Amino acid sequence: EQAPVITIDGPSGSGKGTIAKLLAEKLGFALLDSGALYRLTALAAIRAEADLEDEADVARIASGMDIFFDVSGEEVAVTLDEDDVTRAIRMEDVSMAASRVAALPMVRAALLERQRAFRKMPGLVADGRDMGTTVFPDAPVKVFLTASAEERAQRRFNQLQEKGVSVSLRDLLEDIRARDERDTVRSASPLRPAGDAVQLDSTELTISQVLDTVLELVRDRL
Ligand code: C5P
Repeated sequence: EQAPVITIDGPSGSGKGTIAKLLAEKLGFALLDSGALYRLTALAAIRAEADLEDEADVARIASGMDIFFDVSGEEVAVTLDEDDVTRAIRMEDVSMAASRVAALPMVRAALLERQRAFRKMPGLVADGRDMGTTVFPDAPVKVFLTASAEERAQRRFNQLQEKGVSVSLRDLLEDIRARDERDTVRSASPLRPAGDAVQLDSTELTISQVLDTVLELVRDRL
């Protein structure tokens, strides 16, 4: 029997990462932050000075990465080839590069089995863009989490301010819009809700309100 999967897809800044982590903790499930895999691929490609347009080369890099996720702490710690890259993969340049390499079909194919390998008993919470549509189409619980672009930029701005990073809200909003656009229009696994996903707009909701709504869904379906 296959372990159950809860998929949480949506645009960047919708809160899916936070919700996925809390949900996995609450249920004792494994956690897959699939965006981190694209970020790792981008960082590995940048470090290897690869041409980000060279699909076969970037896919080869994606297949060869030695990666490790430590989910025990407050934030997920990420290791690439024995180097702690938890912070490095969150930088804006890596975010942009991640959304570029994510548009390459060979890169997505290279990461597919790696993502599916996270499925283990008693279950998995997977967040990303195509968890419900492509990677785990048979998942019993699928959520598509959104929020307005302005709200998502503001959340990101607050997060960065807390960390002492100074950025402009306008630049963040522009970045978010550019990534939304690229994630939505690409032909390989574009960002879109699965037909059987429950759509949730978090613009006016707190984290705990979103979590409660998703937990109710899980109780109904698992
Ligand atoms: O979710 P996060 O912002 O960390 O994802 C980084 C980038 O990886 C996204 O901009 C998106 O282009 C890509 N991505 C994807 N499919 C996923 C997860 C992320 O294409 N399942």
